[in-house]
Amino acid sequence: MTGPERDPASTPGTTAAPALAARKLSLSFGGLKAVCEFSLALPAGALYGLIGPNGAGKTTVFNLLTGVYRPDAGDIELAGQRINGKKPSHIARAGMARTFQNIRLFGELSVIDNVRTAAGVRTRSGLFRTLFRTPLHVAEERAITERSLELLDVLKVGHRRDEQAKSLPYGDQRRLEIARALATEPRVLLLDEPVAGMNTQEKREMRGLIQSLREQFGVAILLIEHDMGLVMDICEQITVIDHGVTIASGAPKAVQDDPAVIEAYLGVPDDEVDPPPSPDAAPRTDAPEPAAPAGEA
Ligand SMILES: Nc1ncnc2c1ncn2[C@@H]1O[C@H](COP(=O)(O)OP(=O)(O)OP(=O)(O)O)[C@@H](O)[C@H]1O
Ligand SMILES: [Mg+2]
Repeated sequence: MTGPERDPASTPGTTAAPALAARKLSLSFGGLKAVCEFSLALPAGALYGLIGPNGAGKTTVFNLLTGVYRPDAGDIELAGQRINGKKPSHIARAGMARTFQNIRLFGELSVIDNVRTAAGVRTRSGLFRTLFRTPLHVAEERAITERSLELLDVLKVGHRRDEQAKSLPYGDQRRLEIARALATEPRVLLLDEPVAGMNTQEKREMRGLIQSLREQFGVAILLIEHDMGLVMDICEQITVIDHGVTIASGAPKAVQDDPAVIEAYLGVPDDEVDPPPSPDAAPRTDAPEPAAPAGEA
């Protein structure tokens, strides 16, 4: 178990750079410290969790990592390359992809075209080649289509390839989002509540799928999820944040038993509260995510 004061982005004894490293990332919205000195070292191929109560700052961490927000302080490295202040499109090309808590697809486009557009991050055809349909462009298009179909099959939505994305059941839309993210060929995949709104059977399938993605695609995964059973079962390491501050980080069991974590989730027992909370304390509000998609084509 590591305390929040230690810098987890430093990996003593290892020479290889982690797939993703965040060092003391901070971001404020006006007077609100949404993220405070967040650090993480995600090794290649690892599956780590990021948890915390509603409004803790989890999605904001993803928005910092993917370039939606520029950190007030701190560093982000993707496979040893500093990506602070880079645009989301640059970060996507550098190898980081994400899914969104509030699903973002091109609803009017077909399922296959949603994946194909995401794969465009990796194409080499410029405008000239595209306009004149050069052999390179035609070959690239064919390869993208084949690859997209493979991804849809892996995510078990291949049978819906020609349907409009918006017509898909909710669970399938979440799967399609992951297919889109994988189409950018990431080394790091950030999943923001991938089983939210799913039934028990869908959750079970998604759990197996997330685990299989690591081996199949060689990605490291950082998972935000409120389903504690799932997080505790599949994540190797878990970081817990509350009010933007890292309160625990370590193996699932240690995190689960950590008094600070229990307190953050359950609140302090009444007889330990001192002083009593103000009756007119403002409730925490959760602002929506920014409208612009990030880290994708
Ligand atoms: N663009 C923004 N402008 C102002 N405040 C914001 C913005 N985005 C997030 N916040 C605030 O930052 C805090 C962290 O929000 P965030 O969405 O990161 O939480 P979260 O941990 O993802 O919560 P949830 O589990 O509900 O998804 C919240 O208080 C939220 O209201
Ligand atoms: Mg969130």
